[in-house]
Amino acid sequence: QRSGDTLSFNLQLGVAKTQFFKGVNTSTLGINQSYLGPVLRAKRGDNVRINVTNQMGVPSTLHWHGMVLPANMDGGPHQEIKHGDRWTSEFKIRQEASTLWYHSHQMHQTGAQVYHGLAGLFIIDDDSSQQLGLPQEYGVDDIPCTIQDRRFNRDGSLSYIGSMHDRMMGMEGDTILVNGVVTPTLQAKRSLLRLRLHNGSNARTYQLAFSDQRNFQVIASDGGFLTAPVTINSLRLAVGERAEILVDVSDQKTIQLLSQQANGGGGMMGMMSRMSGSSEAFTIMTIDAKQAQPSTHAIPATLRAMAAIPNPKASIATRKFDLQMGMGMMGGGFRINGKTMEMSRIDFQVKRNSTEIWEVRNDSPMAHPFHVHNVQFHILDRNGKKPTEIESGLKDTVLVQRDEVVRIVMTFPEYSDAKVPYMYHCHILEHEDQGMMGQFVVV
Ligand code: C2O
Ligand code: CU
Ligand code: CU
Repeated sequence: QRSGDTLSFNLQLGVAKTQFFKGVNTSTLGINQSYLGPVLRAKRGDNVRINVTNQMGVPSTLHWHGMVLPANMDGGPHQEIKHGDRWTSEFKIRQEASTLWYHSHQMHQTGAQVYHGLAGLFIIDDDSSQQLGLPQEYGVDDIPCTIQDRRFNRDGSLSYIGSMHDRMMGMEGDTILVNGVVTPTLQAKRSLLRLRLHNGSNARTYQLAFSDQRNFQVIASDGGFLTAPVTINSLRLAVGERAEILVDVSDQKTIQLLSQQANGGGGMMGMMSRMSGSSEAFTIMTIDAKQAQPSTHAIPATLRAMAAIPNPKASIATRKFDLQMGMGMMGGGFRINGKTMEMSRIDFQVKRNSTEIWEVRNDSPMAHPFHVHNVQFHILDRNGKKPTEIESGLKDTVLVQRDEVVRIVMTFPEYSDAKVPYMYHCHILEHEDQGMMGQFVVV
């Protein structure tokens, strides 16, 4: 399609049965299909109109994670869609090529609804990205990978929150799904592959690597391309984050994409997760590159001009966010700056087109991925240290480790609405559902 077109999508949220295991029906939620939703795709400059119909029997929402858009089109908890209703979200795609996603954002139900399947990818293209010579044959050498961990009961049903531990740490499973398939095998060409890695889990942080420790190139973060590919052999991906990587499998091998260890969070929570065995390496998917077809794609030396990082000196406000959790039986709950989320409380206002610095502090015992709606931000520093190259690009979600202070800088777009708020929250969905979320309006 050409830039400037209006694209219409019709999405229907419904209940379904999915066969994750042969002959076993699992009750799930899906969007136009039995589990997860279709990959939406649009180009910078397009207008999109997305009609979302809810046939689930319970209220829901659909939020476009990472998208810059008017607050009433965001699909947050205030744009609730009742059973039988239709909600239309219309906006212009104004950001650059990137791998975004969408998911339920129903108040107190986000964790359960996403866990059962209400999520999908939203890919944005633009002209310059299509001229980089990157693999871009969808499903052939450009492969979306939504990674999720799930826990199944013996009867094949999904098990959601069975203990205090699940509620505290967030829901982690022992079975890995990629695009809704249990630890799949990708039959790939012997070529350069581009994987759009998306952590669509509820709580788990992955440390991704290949079984033979081979190098790969990170080319994009949440909101778009890095300035140049960064070669590494292990990549941390927290909930909500995306990373595009290039991996060369032209050497004809079967390799596994692994997660080496879970949550790097030290201290008591780290110990608890190590005790529960979640720190061991496990397979995410197998790549079986048997078909000989040497790639015509080279790894580009550069991907984009230096990103225009908002000048921190232009910041008109510095805000502090303290991520807090009450421990153990004493409870105390999940809070930001001492407060749990209230639909009727707006926490602050920001000015449209203005630049702000947000200082996110984590004094709690575990890591939290902090997410902000309607912006792609830059990380200024972590405990005063400059971010790595991988974290130097556009971000909408940043993992804040225990005892860390992460400063981010962002310029808010021109959209304003004094009444309808945007959210900021921990993207561990059980934490979000228990109140580790707040709201701001842009005026
Ligand atoms: Cu991905 Cu407020 O969400
Ligand atoms: Cu979001
Ligand atoms: Cu959290």
